[in-house]
Amino acid sequence: MEPLELSLQYTGAATPANHELQQLTTLAQTAHQALEDGTGRGAGMRGWLRFPSQYLQHEEFARVQTTAEHIKQNADVLLVIGIGGSYLGARAVIEACTSRYYNETRKGTPAIYFTGCTLSEADFADLEQLIAGRDFYINVISKSGQTLECAVAFRHFRRLLSEKWQGNAEEINKRIYVTTDARKGTLLEESKRQGWPTFVVPTDMGGRYSVLSAVGLLPIACAGIDVEQLLQGAAAAQVAYESPANAYGKNACQDYATIRYFYHKNKRKSVELFASYEPGMVMFGEWFKQLYGESEGKQGRGLFPASVNFTTDLHSLGQYIQQGRRILFETVLVFNQPHNTIAVQAEENDGDGLNYLADKTLFEINRKAFQATALAHAKGNCPNLVISLEKRDAYHIGWLIYFFEKACAISGYMLGVNPFDQDGVESYKKFMFALLGKPGREHDKVRAKLKKDYGVE
Ligand code: PA5
Repeated sequence: MEPLELSLQYTGAATPANHELQQLTTLAQTAHQALEDGTGRGAGMRGWLRFPSQYLQHEEFARVQTTAEHIKQNADVLLVIGIGGSYLGARAVIEACTSRYYNETRKGTPAIYFTGCTLSEADFADLEQLIAGRDFYINVISKSGQTLECAVAFRHFRRLLSEKWQGNAEEINKRIYVTTDARKGTLLEESKRQGWPTFVVPTDMGGRYSVLSAVGLLPIACAGIDVEQLLQGAAAAQVAYESPANAYGKNACQDYATIRYFYHKNKRKSVELFASYEPGMVMFGEWFKQLYGESEGKQGRGLFPASVNFTTDLHSLGQYIQQGRRILFETVLVFNQPHNTIAVQAEENDGDGLNYLADKTLFEINRKAFQATALAHAKGNCPNLVISLEKRDAYHIGWLIYFFEKACAISGYMLGVNPFDQDGVESYKKFMFALLGKPGREHDKVRAKLKKDYGVE
């Protein structure tokens, strides 16, 4: 049995006809082949494609593990400073492999807090309070080294570190680890000056495809997660999904790209809802949204990626999903094996009327909730694409990450976009730097225009 299986069991009438399937499979195969051959757009950014198997043997991977051991033994807290692809993957894997309560339930590993992904003053202040009096280490992650949110947080928490150690450079510097580009950038230059150890964000890998590099692996290893298993799972998926399938049903990764394209183009769905029945997978949904949103959303194209946490969100968004605009389909992630075994107990006085559930485990009840929801949504014209993953452990999560990354690249090529760039992210930055008074002629020009056209300064 494959660790990951894709099925179309809850699609209502929305299943491709044979001729549609043939057409779409050809399109997907061409896209897949272009990805493998490096003939598609942005081919220089496919470093992630063969990375898992290569990195297992890499000298840096061994250094990630020894550094994590050191941090685990010495730090009370690890602050991970980064945004977008420089933070979402690590947080997603930590919660997926442990739980959303990682910081409260961890044993013998540091608390891990993520910052540099907001400019909220309140959030900075809360975090300051949380780490006060604790021995905190920093892993700052930025490929460009220039991202404002990350740079501001690094300056702020570095100052706190300096105050804590009264300017003792040796104590301060041994608590800072940098993950950045190997060749250029302010963070790299500063690391050389200060002697901070550095790890590499590979040049041929965008942030959203970087979770299986040192970007994600260092914080993930600090949480006590078996990063070798994580990479082994991804490396196994790399092999499993390598050849473009000849016909539907031979490559789940390519099939997923095919079916979501079918819903999008043939069934006019514009929103893909990533759904899971495990709160520990909420951050994985956030990672998924960045991966697909930033890769596909360009040239007026792409599915809008959203995520829901069921059954919780059935009591908030469930109404819309069932009866609102018919623009949605769901990609539901379920696990075949339970994490624990907690059952509903029978009570003599069946006051709450729950004895009909006696001896049923929560896993079984949750599973029935999934089946019922999938049937109801499919009936309401919100088809379900179901991804069944054998277990919620490092190996399977590694597999799942590779599955989504590769399917995303294939999907981007099917849509005719470059899945590896993100020019659109620059637009807000251009205006923000102008409004913040960043020095430079280009910022001066934008500032003058904003004042003239909108009266904003
Ligand atoms: O996927 C991406 O490339 C982006 O989300 C980046 O990861 C994000 O903008 C952070 O950039 P940087 O690592 O340069 O600070």
